[in-house]
Amino acid sequence: MGANRHRLLLGITGGVAAYKAAELARLLLQAGSDVQVVMTASAQRFVTPLTFQSLTGRPVITDMWNGGVDNGMPHIELSRDRDGIVIAPASADFIAKLVTGLADDLLSTLCLARECPLMVAPAMNRQMWEHAATQRNMRQLEADGVTIAGPAAGAQACGETGFGRLLEAPELAAAIEAWFEAWMQPKLLRDVRVLITAGPTFEAIDAVRGITNLSSGKMGYAIAQAAIAAGADVTLVSGRTCMGAPKQARLINVTSAAEMLAAVTAETSSCAIFIGVAAVADYRVVTPNPQKIKKTKDTLTLELARNPDILEYVASLPQPPFCVGFAAESENLVEYAQEKRRRKKLPLLVANLVQDALSRDDNELILFDDEGAHPLPRAAKSVLAGQLIAHVAKLYRNPALTQKRKAS
Ligand code: PMT
Repeated sequence: MGANRHRLLLGITGGVAAYKAAELARLLLQAGSDVQVVMTASAQRFVTPLTFQSLTGRPVITDMWNGGVDNGMPHIELSRDRDGIVIAPASADFIAKLVTGLADDLLSTLCLARECPLMVAPAMNRQMWEHAATQRNMRQLEADGVTIAGPAAGAQACGETGFGRLLEAPELAAAIEAWFEAWMQPKLLRDVRVLITAGPTFEAIDAVRGITNLSSGKMGYAIAQAAIAAGADVTLVSGRTCMGAPKQARLINVTSAAEMLAAVTAETSSCAIFIGVAAVADYRVVTPNPQKIKKTKDTLTLELARNPDILEYVASLPQPPFCVGFAAESENLVEYAQEKRRRKKLPLLVANLVQDALSRDDNELILFDDEGAHPLPRAAKSVLAGQLIAHVAKLYRNPALTQKRKAS
């Protein structure tokens, strides 16, 4: 490993977990990173700047007005030569500041003025972590494109047990390493327009009820994030989810399969790659009741009609984009997935076992293309999304790899 592999700004905010940041700084330095520490006033109540100065061999910057840079503007200068900023530990207060764009000290101002990516490792008491305000703030941070590491669950300094612990230093160092790899990967899809569907559809039965499924949108949103990291220009057509969309994506919210089809149809001519991750309802109610149905009868029969297949429609266009389909099966995964790929004439199909994939944070995939099957072992959806996008880019950039399909 060469020296100064990553130039990192390590921001430390007030919390008892600040002591773990010393070990983190040591591990990062050991791995060849260049670490500049910035501490808030509260952080210095828990650990002294001298500890970090001794570890990093650099003065720790704590003061907006005495930031050790020639032009007197540390809030701008300090992040300019950095590959990324990591805030560990990040207190509830500091997270709230990031969300609102408050800039009342050096570290918060630095974060607002940065051009480089930001990772936040929260650490706080269990109740503070679970509070609706903190949870809302975390969703907003994610939507703003900030990477979140942790927190972990376990015994806390306050004597309680639950989520809110800072990740242990080795885990955090590994997360930072993976994060840099993702950001510093070559921009395999630079400026390529990618259209992604995600989440469930909802088919109305009456004014208040409908037919839907358990898709959370996590897989599709992770793929959107990975495509953005690869430089793509992403449009995300999403069914109803609780997810915050990546801020760099153009988000089109839809409810039913018909709305999803309309949105996709309007976007397809301008996209180069289409990835159908949405769990689209195969059937819709023929005549939804405009009012709430009263429970006057013992049984109720709904007449259902087949929904159009959005992926099949896109793949069968005279000049289709590069189409990637998903297959969610509960049995015979390989056989059904291969049949789906043939029938829909797809260069790439991604198969997963639906019971092991829906709503979870991790998944296990098999990619089927003209070269055969490529299993991706169980991992976080964000990791799999990066691997999938790398594979998509390889096929998209090398049309010869999918010529067999066209010839057949
Ligand atoms: O959202 P998560 O909780 O993270 O879960 C992820 C997931 C399980 C939903 C995802 O990984 C997945 O498998 N998505 C595809 C779900 C699905 O509808 O599979 P299918 O085998 O029924 O459909 C095959 C393909 O045709 C899919 O690309 C689907 O988007 C598309 N399709 C299906 C029906 C339809 N009417 N129109 C479509 O475009």
